Amino acid sequence: MAACVFLAACSPEDRVSRGAVLYSENCAICHGGDLRGGGGIGVVGLNKVPTDLTTLAVRSGGDFPRGEVLALLNDYAAGVQPGRLMRPFAHLTSQDTERIKTEQGRTRIPAPQAALLAYLEASQLP
Ligand code: HEC
Repeated sequence: MAACVFLAACSPEDRVSRGAVLYSENCAICHGGDLRGGGGIGVVGLNKVPTDLTTLAVRSGGDFPRGEVLALLNDYAAGVQPGRLMRPFAHLTSQDTERIKTEQGRTRIPAPQAALLAYLEASQLP
């Protein structure tokens, strides 16, 4: 809860900018600095091209698939690697949780995952 003592620290803008930092540290190496996929050195050894992360909403019919992306982030955080292509991101788990709304309803998730999710959602192409 420490991160949320001040209301301003939990504003949507703050969440997105925290997500941007997490993204550049953990994801940009494969998905690219602009999220368009096809990444850099991280791609070496992959047998699949990292996906364009700006078209998640378009590809799921217009709405950003929060629950789906969250499930994926959760799997990475837990070290479950679908297709064993993405590294586990244990540090995406945290005692600090934040409340978000998904297709399935309201839920609390680790703050780093909430930040990444907000950043990805804010980066979707119309
Ligand atoms: C080592 C390279 C690598 C890293 C690092 C990586 N990814 Fe991926 N990611 C992939 C590949 C390859 C795919 C597509 C194949 C698959 O589904 O496993 C993918 C798929 C995805 C998808 C599914 C996209 C779709 O089209 O359905 C999401 C969402 C995603 N990654 C988010 C992230 C996030 C967020 C991070 C950082 C926490 C991250 N990835 C880090 C390689 C990577």
